[in-house]
Amino acid sequence: MADGDAAAPSGQAGTILRVVVSAERIHRRVDELAASIAQCYQGRELVILGVMTGALVFLADLIRRLPINLRLSLISASSYDGPTICSNGIKSIGEVSDMIEGRDVLIVDDILDSGHTMRALIEQVRRKDPKSVRTCVLLRKVRPSVDQPAVDFLGFEIADEFVVGYGLDFDNLYRNLPDLNALPCPGRPEGA
Ligand code: IMP
Ligand code: MG
Repeated sequence: MADGDAAAPSGQAGTILRVVVSAERIHRRVDELAASIAQCYQGRELVILGVMTGALVFLADLIRRLPINLRLSLISASSYDGPTICSNGIKSIGEVSDMIEGRDVLIVDDILDSGHTMRALIEQVRRKDPKSVRTCVLLRKVRPSVDQPAVDFLGFEIADEFVVGYGLDFDNLYRNLPDLNALPCPGRPEGA
């Protein structure tokens, strides 16, 4: 389905979704991101810190396109509790592995919204004395009034709306959808 095609029934919870970024476009962009990352870390060894659970699908696609030596470390972070779309900072965050000390670290997350999650992760990683810290995020919500941290490798900028699919969820649903979709929010006009 092409980007922007309206009214694609998801078959999950009966919700009508609109494709924001198609699976084909995502895959092409992941190829490009992987090429940039591989070039940046050529001849070096990398620790990828994947942020669960939203980055799961992106991470799985990205690492299989990276022809470099890498170790994988996972960390859990959650901003939402149950069926809500309001991120008011992080609810919980796991422990960063000691393995990253003295190593090049790339934090990989699904989406930058308020930026609180990424800021907290960068801070935690820095405390473990890594050789370098960079960030890779598939999506950045454009929110001019919010001071988001800079990202080293970015997939797409999107409008400030709630999105699901390609690993991103609402109430732990929709992660398995191949495209990235906007979820209509009750009581919130589209794009508001
Ligand atoms: P932040 O801390 O506000 O930047 O939120 C980042 C985290 O909230 C991401 O890692 C996602 O897991 C989650 N999140 C933010 N926006 C969305 C969205 O539109 N759909 C699904 N998850 C989201
Ligand atoms: Mg997340």
